[in-house]
Amino acid sequence: MEKSFYNLISDRRSTRKFKDTPLTPDQVRYLLSAGLRAPSSRNRHSVQYVVVEDKEKLKALSLVREHGSKFLEHAPLGIVVLGDPITSNHWMEDASIAATFIQLQAEALGLGSCWCQIIDTLTVNGQESAEYVRLQFDIPLQLEVLCIIAVGHKDEDKEPVPEEELLWERVHLDHYHLPTSEE
Ligand SMILES: Cc1cc2nc3c(=O)[nH]c(=O)nc-3n(C[C@H](O)[C@H](O)[C@H](O)COP(=O)(O)O)c2cc1C
Repeated sequence: MEKSFYNLISDRRSTRKFKDTPLTPDQVRYLLSAGLRAPSSRNRHSVQYVVVEDKEKLKALSLVREHGSKFLEHAPLGIVVLGDPITSNHWMEDASIAATFIQLQAEALGLGSCWCQIIDTLTVNGQESAEYVRLQFDIPLQLEVLCIIAVGHKDEDKEPVPEEELLWERVHLDHYHLPTSEE
């Protein structure tokens, strides 16, 4: 049965353990199509992608951050999401929305995904993570590296966040409500 959109976004949780099963060319194409279909400021399409399936490259990418990038080593696919500040000053919004579309498309295909943050992060050797990625793939200086989305078949089960744990106190009705000291 097709999932409703609300079920889809509830079921999506970050997956950091992947089975050793490659993705099909069709699955990879759907993921990239989702990114390319994402809305962009002034329809400028400032986002570009590097598709990584090579095991050695994925291993290298797993070292892109001191913490929080190890899962890339065993992912069958990494999508490096790039923004072009010359094409749009809203490249960060464009690229974030595109990356999110890819993650939702992954869930719709029954796959798991996780975002690996690149901006303002360092490798274990203190090198800027963005610079490290640039050197791996000969990415021109003009482009910014937003994140890497790992995608693969899930090898871990995570429950949706229960409805009662949603942070409704972050939603303000008609005017901003200052939290009291008990909140
Ligand atoms: C902007 C952003 C950056 C993130 N960076 C990382 C990261 O570098 N490494 C990681 O393991 N998870 C990363 N995540 C995943 C979050 O840790 C995760 O979405 C959050 O803990 C909520 O868990 P859930 O996705 O399972 O609902 C990132 C998520 C976002 C939206």
